[in-house]
Amino acid sequence: MAGKQALNIVKLKKMKEDGTPISMITAYDYPSARLAEEAGVDVILVGDSLGNVVLGYDSTIPVTLDDMVYHTRAVARGAEHTFIVADMPFMTYHGSVQESLAGIRRLMQEGRAHAVKMEGGSEIIPVVRAAVQAGVPVLGHIGLTPQSVNQIGGYRIQGKDAADARRLLADAKALEEAGAFGIVLELVTEEVATLISKELSIPTIGIGAGRGCDGQVLVYHDVLQYASSYRPKRFVQTYGDIGTLIKDSLGRYVADVKGRAFPAEQHVFNADDGVMDTLYGNRTEKVGNGS
Ligand code: KIV
Repeated sequence: MAGKQALNIVKLKKMKEDGTPISMITAYDYPSARLAEEAGVDVILVGDSLGNVVLGYDSTIPVTLDDMVYHTRAVARGAEHTFIVADMPFMTYHGSVQESLAGIRRLMQEGRAHAVKMEGGSEIIPVVRAAVQAGVPVLGHIGLTPQSVNQIGGYRIQGKDAADARRLLADAKALEEAGAFGIVLELVTEEVATLISKELSIPTIGIGAGRGCDGQVLVYHDVLQYASSYRPKRFVQTYGDIGTLIKDSLGRYVADVKGRAFPAEQHVFNADDGVMDTLYGNRTEKVGNGS
């Protein structure tokens, strides 16, 4: 994609003002990032969802800063012209501000992320403020925050009652006020997500948060059903079935090897004419160093 300019937070805000929807997708490695860039996504999120879909954990909690740096670096190599946001993983921004900034520095310097995402509302404002003051674009993330799944008690829809709606709106405004350039709203009722989107001047990016957000984000593996057995999710639209394609293709490869159909004529390399006569025809003749 020579010539394509990565977006930045100023352009993302302008997209909201112009009513241009923002498309965001997760990616975790070189090929997924490259394909996402070639498909024209606006923003790539190196989500800590990689814990679930790439590393085989049952939550995002075991994901480490080293994991995030490693994957972000691969994504940055694959998508040189796309705005890349990387997740700060579990408990890496709840200690001292200095410690949090050190983690952010790693994601940006070693991982080459353009921005970082942090889950939480009013409780993370001091870190958000310090990061923004240090020149770091910060994407907030409220609603269902998977790193707190054990506290929330499962993957529940947020913003169903008035008290919850008020809390979400207050958190969104606090993040905006602290300098966040945007906010992910995850599994939030459509009414509340729409209200938040209208109340903020920064873009909201929804996942399972309905049609009133300024952009949408989905997990790469969900969009493509990239899993050995994909479990459909109500808020996801799938656009391919890569899991089935991969399993079928690998099954045909195994069958071809077992049936000696692969390798076939077109896959093999041949020695020069006469070489085999030399090797088999006259076994006393020397081969190799020409003597
Ligand atoms: O980790 C992730 O992929 C995310 C998205 C679901 C927003 O945080």
